[in-house]
Amino acid sequence: MAKSKTVFFCKECGFESSKWLGQCPGCKEWNTFTEEPVVKKSASSMAVTKGLKRAEPESLSKVLAEDSERKLTGIAEFDRVLGGGIVKGSLVLVGGDPGIGKSTLLLQVCKQLVERDTKVLYISGEESLRQIKMRAERLGTFKGDLLLLAETNLDLISDTITRVMPQVIVIDSIQTMFREEISAAPGSVSQVRETTGALMHIAKGMGITVFIVGHVTKEGVVAGPRVLEHMVDTVLYFEGENTASYRILRAVKNRFGSTNEIGVFEMKNAGLSEVTNPSEYMLQGKPEDEPGSVIAASMEGTRTILVEVQALVCQTNFNMPRRTAAGTDYNRVNLLMAVIEKRLGIQLSFCDAYINVAGGMKINEPALDLAIVLAILSSYKNKALSSKTIAFGEVGLTGEVRAVNLAEQRVADAAKLGYEVCILPYVNKQNLNIKGIQLVGIRNVKELINQLR
Ligand code: TYD
Ligand code: MG
Repeated sequence: MAKSKTVFFCKECGFESSKWLGQCPGCKEWNTFTEEPVVKKSASSMAVTKGLKRAEPESLSKVLAEDSERKLTGIAEFDRVLGGGIVKGSLVLVGGDPGIGKSTLLLQVCKQLVERDTKVLYISGEESLRQIKMRAERLGTFKGDLLLLAETNLDLISDTITRVMPQVIVIDSIQTMFREEISAAPGSVSQVRETTGALMHIAKGMGITVFIVGHVTKEGVVAGPRVLEHMVDTVLYFEGENTASYRILRAVKNRFGSTNEIGVFEMKNAGLSEVTNPSEYMLQGKPEDEPGSVIAASMEGTRTILVEVQALVCQTNFNMPRRTAAGTDYNRVNLLMAVIEKRLGIQLSFCDAYINVAGGMKINEPALDLAIVLAILSSYKNKALSSKTIAFGEVGLTGEVRAVNLAEQRVADAAKLGYEVCILPYVNKQNLNIKGIQLVGIRNVKELINQLR
């Protein structure tokens, strides 16, 4: 009896293997391989070869590149993350945990676009038209006309697209879409890849901007958005804590802009609203003059975000001290504690230490080091830092404080928000001339002790 042909895929990154593997050689994740029927290549590549013209090269100087092919959505936080509006004919993946607000965000984008006379087709494979209508009603009245389609068969969808010719389409979500030629279930690696490939041809061929929603799934049978990251032009991740109402939109790949921009939103009753000043938002409810609390100036793309770093250092009651780090890198915190122990001679090995970046932001920037060290010292000594003080700087293994990038902007933005003192690397201070804020240049962590009262 002939065995039916199957192949194994990694759900995380799409790595292909002829046999099952415990650990994926591609992304090093464990237990991510699933078995899927082999995709007949002839069927899948048909669409590509159909109607193919002769391929002629074009000289670079003759290729027209108009930046005017961008369209602003009017949601400033969204436009910035995209690098200045949506690009015609681009394929944008919006990934995120289920329930984080991807459908809401894209429906709001659609609302803005139709108000700007753009023809938008919203294709949902997850919700009925009535459900979309109910959500739309929460977002307020639509001034333009949005076209809706509840369908999951991609061949029918692409037929609709060629008839309707929208300028922008939204696919919610890629894990529900399927093509009949492929025998694997919707959401499997082969389906997700094939449907994205077909959407890519629609985007590039007809100059339609395509937004694809992809759920991030740790467990389960659906393929994650990482499988298609390399196929799309832009990858945005929408993230946030379950406990906090704010959401962060982050670009992890962008062929048309920088990847370190973020957009900050807050989920409210009537959809997502933009947070134009994240620092104020992050510092809400900050304690005044308390030991263990330090404000750090961190950069996210071109914006300074001030966050509060908190540390709680207390005597341990166990053989092994407890250490936790929320919102920043655990290993980095351990390293910084070792630096304090060695360079300042403070015995932290008998202390539990809990580090927290308040507000739920996750920051892995070395510039946060100085604030972490200060917070630990402040909590250990039980002495507060003078209020209206911010700190930033990288700390090296010998305790030296090293320069960080964009120092001028960090200081200027902190001064604008009313901060009076800035503790920063000595090297950075040398090149700065900013009025209205006192600059304290630090060469080594040993000098930090003087800053505590
Ligand atoms: P949704 O966009 O459906 O998430 P996703 O598409 O990423 O799965 O968002 C769902 C959550 O957002 C849901 O828990 C309810 C909440 N929400 C609001 O708080 N206000 C609103 O106006 C809307 C539309 C949703
Ligand atoms: Mg949804």
